[in-house]
Formats: sequence, C-alpha cells, structure tokens
Amino acid sequence: MDKLVIEGGAALTGTIDISGAKNAALPILTAALLTEETLTVENVPHLRDVATMLDLLGRMGVSASRHGKLGVALNARSLGDPVAPYDLVKTMRASVLVLGPLLARLGSARVSLPGGCAIGLRPVDQHLKGLQAMGATITMEQGYMVASAPRLKGARICMDLVTVTGTENIMMAASLAEGRTVIENAAREPEVVDLAGCLNAMGARVIGAGTDTITIDGVERLHGARYRVMPDRIETGTFLAAAAAAGGRVRLNGARADILDAVLDKLREAGAKVEAAPDWIEIQAHGTRQAVNLRTAPYPGFPTDMQAQFVALNSVAQGTAVVTETIFENRFMHAQELRRLGADIEVEGNTAIVKGVTRLDGATVMATDLRASASLVVAGLVARGTTTIERVYHLDRGYERIEEKLSRLGARIRRVP
Ligand code: UD1
Repeated sequence: MDKLVIEGGAALTGTIDISGAKNAALPILTAALLTEETLTVENVPHLRDVATMLDLLGRMGVSASRHGKLGVALNARSLGDPVAPYDLVKTMRASVLVLGPLLARLGSARVSLPGGCAIGLRPVDQHLKGLQAMGATITMEQGYMVASAPRLKGARICMDLVTVTGTENIMMAASLAEGRTVIENAAREPEVVDLAGCLNAMGARVIGAGTDTITIDGVERLHGARYRVMPDRIETGTFLAAAAAAGGRVRLNGARADILDAVLDKLREAGAKVEAAPDWIEIQAHGTRQAVNLRTAPYPGFPTDMQAQFVALNSVAQGTAVVTETIFENRFMHAQELRRLGADIEVEGNTAIVKGVTRLDGATVMATDLRASASLVVAGLVARGTTTIERVYHLDRGYERIEEKLSRLGARIRRVP
C-alpha cells in the first residue's frame, strides 16, 4: 500500500489547477442510467471513487469510453442486471445513487445496504421514504434494498433532514416520473445544482435546485447531452487550508469563490489574505494564524468535508478553537492522529477543543477516511521533520494527484509504494 512522505516546513508558492468535483461527478455519472442515448461528461476527475462508479455502471451494462483527457461518454442503451453489489457499495457509499435512476428507468433495482462507515451510521431512510412516496415498493432481502415500481408518480416529499445524495436520488427518479414532484427541505449544495443542470441538459424539467424547494415535472424520456462537471470546492478548500497553515502564496485556477463563502470567511478570520475572481482564488498567508471557531452545517454553512482540515489549521494557530460537528456523529478520528504529531486536541461528543501549539513534529500517522487523511497532509506540511501518512488509498478516493499538485507548489512530498 502506498504511503506519502512529507518533509514539513516549506512554504507553498505557485499556481495549480482545480479538478472537477468528485461529489458532482458521481451523481452526474449515474444520470447516464436515465437515458438510452449517450451522456458525455467532461471535467471528470481521475479518482478512485470515479473508477468505482464506472465499474458499478459497467457491471450493469453501461458502456463507457474515454472522451479526451478528462471526458467520459456513457451509454446505457442495453442494461443488464440492475444490481449494486455489496463489494462495491461498501467501498463507496455514493453507489446508492443508482437506486433512483434504475427504478425510474427500469422499474426495479437491487442495491446493497451501505451499512456503517468510518464517520458514522449514515442511514438511507430518507432516500427510501421519497421513493416510496412516489409509489415504489421497497423490501429488505439479505442486506439488499429490493425496489420495484411500475411507473413512479410525482409526489410532495418533505425530507426530515437535509441529505445531499437523498435529494439527488429523488431528483433523478422524479425526472422520469409521471407528474410533478416537489422536494421540501432539499439540500442546497452546489453539487445538487450541478446535477440539476445536467438533468435539464438531458431534457428534464427541474427548477429550484439551490433552494430548499425543488420542483421536478416528470417527462416521458430523457435524451443524451454533453455536460461539464463543476470545480471541486472541497479540493479547493483543502489547498487553501494547506497554504494558510504552511504559509506562502498560492493561486488556484478554475476555483469558484462564490460557492466557498463560509470557508473563505474563516480563512480571512484566521489571518490569511484571500482574493478571488470568477475563475481563480488566491491566498497569501504570512506570520501567525489565529484560531477560528466553527460549526459544520448544510450548505451554505461550513462544510463538514472541510472540518478536519481546519482542525489541522487550528492545531498550529494562536489561541483556542471550538470546532463543532453537526452532520456526522463520529467525525473526529483525525484528532487522535494529529495528537501523534503534537497537536493539543480534546474531543467531547461532537465538539473538539483545539489549543494551538507552537510546533508540530513529524511522525507516522494513518487515517480512517478521506478528509481525515487530508487533515494529516495539512499538518504534515507544517510539522518539523518527516511525516509518513499511511493508507493513502483514502486520499486517492477524492484527491487527484495531491502529491503532484503540492510538489508543484514547493512542498517536499512524495509517494512511496
Ligand atoms: C454527501 C457527500 C459527503 C458529505 C455529505 C454532507 C456525496 C457523494 N457525498 O454525503 O462528502 O460529507 O454529503 O455534506 O455527495 N441521513 C439520514 N438519512 C438519510 C440520509 C442521510 O439520517 O436517508 C443523515 C446522515 O447520516 C448524515 C446527514 O443525514 O448525518 C447528512 O448526510 P447526507 O447529506 O445524506 O450525506 P451524503 O449524501 O451521504
């Protein structure tokens, strides 16, 4: 298994490109299931989760061919078994995104229950509640959700809580349902808006994405389209947090500031200078960083996917920060590993108290999930001496060539097989 080895202490300077968003690409790829025609998706990042999704779609009979360097052309004309098996769903929870499209297009689907994952229980009851309101029958058989419906019917669905993939699953199912579906308390995440943009390019009638009420008027069929995935706001935020921690001046080309307000505000509060144009963000950080309190919340609040990286930043800031996680119940596993580098973090329930220390020292650490790994990279860039991060496969799920991009900024980081 690969490791990352970082010699900390170098400031970050230079320009890099931001990749397409993992969390937009995954649902958009599954939207190919909704039509017999070809969906060409551009700006698809090279990530392990994307490969897993293409593997899953391939097993169902979706053909995929490369289209240029970052494009993939998908065709789901002849679909075979509408099954998402346990071995794939357990490695990537977003596999559950095939449920809505399969049900709408074929009238049946068998999707393994995701089960627990490292950051918490993460049930899918809201996905099921929505699909059942649209007329689907869903039973549990040997760990699988077995769903069927002759043709889904539009319904008014009020989500009990804000769920990103839940909103996306229902939106996709509703675009081929009979009549109008209204999703209340919908997720407002930019990736939901991106999926709606793709569906509309395929002939769907989705309005209100980006607000908490989304209306979908079902159509008889969807057609092929060409769609470009939005830039990754979490990759962007991770590089910004890294620059804020390590110091320096970094420009991120292709990044969108308009969807990162909560993160940019916190970086400024931490003492960094942030400038932005419509297609780049630049950060300058010199001198000491200030501790920043934060509380994760659904968009437009502070993203839970940026919490770990900010715990790392706060570890080397001046003062004490209170970081509260409100989305996932068990998302502070990085605290223990950061402590191995010398961080002073106490976790109580869903709150971490981070007391800034004047220096971190390199050590061997490992991570249990994607964003926790990213926080270890941020800390490793600041720590004195050598930090070795094990289980890099977590990072490869969601960051495209992170060590190459950081090297280009002057970081001393390398991958060791
Ligand atoms: C998505 C993102 C993930 C991000 C998360 C929160 C993708 C592929 N992944 O995950 O990176 O961390 O949003 O921004 O887009 N819940 C229920 N019942 C449900 C569904 C969710 O109780 O049916 C709970 C979850 O356990 C969690 C909260 O709702 O506590 C939010 O989860 P959700 O928004 O669904 O996360 P994902 O869509 O899985």
